[in-house]
Amino acid sequence: MYEHDVIVVGAGGAGLRAAIAAQEEGADVAIVSKLHPVRSHTGAAEGGINAALRDADSWEDHAYDTMKGSDYLGDAPAIETLTQESPEEVIQLEHWGMAFSRDDDGRVSQRPFGGLSFPRTTYAGAETGHQLLHTMYEQLVKRGIEVYDEWYVMDLAVTDEERPEDRECHGVVGYDIQTGEISGFQANDGVILATGGLGQVYDHTTNAVANTGDGVAMAYRAGVPIEDMEFIQFHPTTLPSTGVLITEGVRGEGGILYNEDGERFMFEHGYANNDGELASRDVVSRAELTEVNEGRGIDDEYVHLDMRHLGEDRIVDRLENIVHLSKDFEGVDPLEEPMPVKPGQHYAMGGIETNEHGETCVSGLYAAGECACASVHGSNRLGGNALPELIVFGKMAGYHAAGKEMGEAEIETGQRGDYEVGELEPGVEIGDVQPAGDAVADGGVAAGTAGAAPDDVVQQAVERQRGRVEKLLNREEGIGHSAVRDEIQETMTEYVNVFREESGLEQALAEIRAARERYRDVKVSDPSRTFNTDLIHTIETRNIIDLAEAITLGALARDEFRGAHWRKEHQERKDDSWLKHTMLSWNDGEPELWYRPVVLEGENKEYEPKVRSY
Ligand code: FUM
Repeated sequence: MYEHDVIVVGAGGAGLRAAIAAQEEGADVAIVSKLHPVRSHTGAAEGGINAALRDADSWEDHAYDTMKGSDYLGDAPAIETLTQESPEEVIQLEHWGMAFSRDDDGRVSQRPFGGLSFPRTTYAGAETGHQLLHTMYEQLVKRGIEVYDEWYVMDLAVTDEERPEDRECHGVVGYDIQTGEISGFQANDGVILATGGLGQVYDHTTNAVANTGDGVAMAYRAGVPIEDMEFIQFHPTTLPSTGVLITEGVRGEGGILYNEDGERFMFEHGYANNDGELASRDVVSRAELTEVNEGRGIDDEYVHLDMRHLGEDRIVDRLENIVHLSKDFEGVDPLEEPMPVKPGQHYAMGGIETNEHGETCVSGLYAAGECACASVHGSNRLGGNALPELIVFGKMAGYHAAGKEMGEAEIETGQRGDYEVGELEPGVEIGDVQPAGDAVADGGVAAGTAGAAPDDVVQQAVERQRGRVEKLLNREEGIGHSAVRDEIQETMTEYVNVFREESGLEQALAEIRAARERYRDVKVSDPSRTFNTDLIHTIETRNIIDLAEAITLGALARDEFRGAHWRKEHQERKDDSWLKHTMLSWNDGEPELWYRPVVLEGENKEYEPKVRSY
């Protein structure tokens, strides 16, 4: 058993920032990650970091833009924390040596991004995430923070009191990918989940193969509510053949979208008469797919993004990475011809419910970054708001887990205070999703550990995972996980995409349930204990199933059109009934649906929902 004060799971932007903060607070901190830190998916972030740095800008304007972008489903205390803290965090990165792009006067450059009323996106060419990750990794090395890299965290060690609000997290179970060793990591002060996105739930995504939503699924099965899972962001500009991201920075610099008839459709077809290509992402993605569906797409699949008029010097100065990505992954030289682009899954707005300090309702368990939902993005995230979220809330979670006094949180977590029990439409059974006694589908709390000593709780969780791995490796008969994973990805892409209809969502739920049944017979073909990626991917696929189901249940429950959640049968935002967060709790293997009101009361103002147009 390994033992540290604070264990951070995941080594992307949020994990590294959390670890640095916890260490600054005096904790003995370690990171456990299935990837080496500089291979984390934060490194693929291109466009930038929103921060109100200029005199003509303000955190209040940034907060307003974010609330409007969220379609009034973000919680004001979290949004205001993000926008107030982001400038200081950007300056901190600059002081740590991050290679930001610069204006001629030497100031850090900023450019326009979608849905922003001021060009406040700081950037490092089109490789902002790469620069950010390396800058923070240097700090990690300098501080001697321990990293257990290529250790896959399989489960949390959480006690099993009846109410999640009474449970405690004492550590995690790790699987050493290099040796096959399964070991406990006891956390004396706290565990911080910073495991990133869940893009592998879909088959056309900007996300890396590693983005399987492990932290969200583990927390969910340990009883932590997951919030607003139906809100998935589809980025408007991904390369059709691979899903590789073409940054919004292209449009921020002046890139233009055209349909097959050469029309600048964002204006000519009235999708966004003021902001055109720089409307928020949900608006642009729907516009592109409408063009395709109405026969004005190219090859019935995509539209064109043209940046040639910007000139080679400006493109190479600010977007060089895009030239390489387009050539290497699509065979198109964007200096010579427009790039084909279409919407692709990019980001999960929802995730593990936290307050603005990164705390979950389970004592000792924190979350930050994309896996978490402090509720800054609501139903649609603005481009450039993910990287500040990582650093602002990563820092908060790190400080808090290490014992810093944080004051009273304004956002409540768990089923306490003002919440409402939810029901799905008649005809949609939530159902039992965890057949009892099936070790393959195991997960959740450590049975019989209410009030047990921390090391006993961790040890019991370790034994459970050892049993699970033995069963997976030693099964004589069974199916491979990849067919199940493919089915889920295809189902989600077909039915739970930009445009959603009731019958499609019901079909998706039925197919996910069928895939879950098939997963009960899953076996691992590779018997090796060394770099057994078949085993790791099989375990990840279980997480993908749970999250696909959660996204679909949330999408079925929310019968309105808000932000990225478009419903064919419900074409308006219903503020009277839906100014509330969709919450799912894993209740003895059965998802329980409930709601918590959105917090629109900020520090100095109440954000009043308005018609959202760009
Ligand atoms: O388009 C982009 O560069 C992505 C940025 C983001 O998701 O924040």
